[in-house]
Amino acid sequence: MYHAGIIGTGSYVPEKVLTNRDLEMMVETSDKWILERTGIRERRIAGEEETNVTMGRIALERAAENACIDRTEIEMLVVGTNTTDPMWPSAAGHIAHLLNLRRNLPFFDVQAGCTGFNYALATAEQFLKSGQYKTVAVVGSDKLSAITNYKDRNTCVLFGDGAGAVILRRRSKEGLIRSYLGGEYKLRHTLVLRDSEDDHGCRFMWMEGKKVYAFAKGAMAESCLRVLDPDGRATKKELRTLLNQVDRIIPHQANARIIVSAAEELESRLELPSGAVKRKMIVTIEKYGNNSTASIPLALDESIRDGKIRTGDLVILVGFGAGLTYGANLLRL
Ligand code: ACO
Repeated sequence: MYHAGIIGTGSYVPEKVLTNRDLEMMVETSDKWILERTGIRERRIAGEEETNVTMGRIALERAAENACIDRTEIEMLVVGTNTTDPMWPSAAGHIAHLLNLRRNLPFFDVQAGCTGFNYALATAEQFLKSGQYKTVAVVGSDKLSAITNYKDRNTCVLFGDGAGAVILRRRSKEGLIRSYLGGEYKLRHTLVLRDSEDDHGCRFMWMEGKKVYAFAKGAMAESCLRVLDPDGRATKKELRTLLNQVDRIIPHQANARIIVSAAEELESRLELPSGAVKRKMIVTIEKYGNNSTASIPLALDESIRDGKIRTGDLVILVGFGAGLTYGANLLRL
């Protein structure tokens, strides 16, 4: 088995900012409610011409520049996304075309709700570790504003748009250590895309927020533990040691309260002091809201750039999303 690690990251967010104050004009809500219940102050909204493809393209271009590679070195492209419109051909194909990637490379989308980036990374990992490829690109890009009902205050305050990307390359030392993926198909109806009642032809996200919230907290805590202890055999003391070695956790940015709840769940399960896990959590939701598959690679890119994450750090990327799905990736930067 080969090792593979991240050698470059990139991200993109649209220019347009939608603040809580703007939303106060659109639905019955308040800046105070949104901030207290979600931790979000503003989110980015793609322009009419922008899509998951155009945003993903820029993020990948930046990741390739950051990795100092020629784009033609990329041997496979995996894109986590939920908003390709039309669904065929894949966003990956369009991005490959726009960036003039090498002819005949395999490219495909992974659709696993907001866990799409974790799933895409885990997929790429298999091809790298088996030795089939040396250089693989993974993108997370979503334009949730295209499927958000701006008349529904239960959902529209949460979502935004953006993209993030990483370049993975085979290397001699440990990088992407392992991934853990899971799902709960019995809860598939709690977060769905469905025809709107009043706007014919439109499809919007609809969810049972409280059920998704409760699921997310447990699923993210469990994913962190299982990615550290894949056999599930470690004692509480061993798990404490493993988790203490983790420098940072980048959770899917769905709701600041979910992130805090997941951290508290881990602290309580492992009998760790209050704040021991919470302080490892990277939180960027205030500026971007929930931009689905983009949230984790965007936070990773920003954290590396602003020095919150450094070479050698042990990091968990953990997500959950429609499906319902969940999962985590453990990596050494
Ligand atoms: N502004 C003001 N009041 C609101 C708003 C709003 N935007 N939205 C709901 N309310 C009201 C409700 O109507 C309710 O009023 P009531 O008590 O009179 O009935 C009250 O606020 C409380 O509502 P709750 O649903 O109990 O609020 P909660 O604290 O659970 O927060 C939220 C709601 C933010 C949606 C939360 O449940 C959540 O974050 N859930 C997870 C959702 C999520 O992350 N989904 C995405 C998954 S990722 C993906 O794949 C896209």
